[in-house]
Amino acid sequence: METPQLIDGKAVAAELRKEIAEKVKLRVERGLPAPGLAVVLVGEDPASQVYVGSKVKACEEVGFLSRSYRMEKETTQSDLLTLIDTLNADPEIHGILVQLPLPKQIDVQSVIERIDPQKDVDGFHPYNLGRLAGKAPTLRPCTPYGCMRLLDAYGIDPMGKNAVVIGASNIVGRPVALELLMARATVTVCHSKTRDLPGELARADIVIAAVGIPNFVKGEWLKPGAVVIDVGINRLDTGKLVGDVDFEAAKAKASAITPVPGGVGPMTIACLLQNTLEACEAVEAAQG
Ligand SMILES: NC(=O)c1ccc[n+]([C@@H]2O[C@H](COP(=O)([O-])OP(=O)(O)OC[C@H]3O[C@@H](n4cnc5c(N)ncnc54)[C@H](OP(=O)(O)O)[C@@H]3O)[C@@H](O)[C@H]2O)c1
Repeated sequence: METPQLIDGKAVAAELRKEIAEKVKLRVERGLPAPGLAVVLVGEDPASQVYVGSKVKACEEVGFLSRSYRMEKETTQSDLLTLIDTLNADPEIHGILVQLPLPKQIDVQSVIERIDPQKDVDGFHPYNLGRLAGKAPTLRPCTPYGCMRLLDAYGIDPMGKNAVVIGASNIVGRPVALELLMARATVTVCHSKTRDLPGELARADIVIAAVGIPNFVKGEWLKPGAVVIDVGINRLDTGKLVGDVDFEAAKAKASAITPVPGGVGPMTIACLLQNTLEACEAVEAAQG
């Protein structure tokens, strides 16, 4: 097997961010407002703090208005919903992102459903998920959208291919399966109760791994020539970041593969920016 193509998410994301920055610059020159993103963090989860920091920085780099709201970990559901109502009504804010996970006193689904679907730049609101399921996407969940843009950037067309998604979460597995179905792949979704994962993977032309277990997908499970998109981000005790796929072993089988870090991760943030820009443009289009 030849050396697989490395799918460079960092480079694809940088290109998308550059395009967005140019569009923002043109908007501002034309007297239009910069897109505005509000990021809400409840509590002090260290990983969430890092993610929020990266999102705020990325916003500033492309010229967006960025506002961050840090709330105590004891914050009540009612206080969080009140903040969301305020942001929903704020014309300077086009996108609202509430960083997950939330403390246990808060019902995540109620929070997701309180965000105005037109400002739901994470794409988790049932309206936006329903639109994706109905092949008429509006704001698309960022990580799945990022996976699709990566495939597209490398000329990999899912149409007619067997795609196997490992993981069925609301934020990655399920929406990425809907994306692949919309792109007309034949899609299998695996989860913790799947009986024969190696058997499913043996037929997979495209593998999307979103499990949350370091190096879980073994090289020998892959079909020769498979395209492997590794969504996993796992920190080992040594501090090293690894994906859900055993990268070194998978390289010997795959035709193309994403690294971790530098694969899907940067695309998630770039797609968040893209969604915020689209949300802003949609408001103007509706105003005529
Ligand atoms: N790159 C990014 O920007 C980005 C964004 C989001 C998440 N992530 C990473 O992606 C990974 C998945 O995240 P998530 O939020 O989707 O995780 P999650 O909510 O914990 O879901 C994990 C999924 O994997 C399934 N699973 C668990 N053990 C399995 C097994 N032995 N065999 C097959 N499936 C199994 C679970 O099945 P059940 O449904 O049966 O429980 C579940 O559907 C994590 O590493 C996370 O850090 C990365």
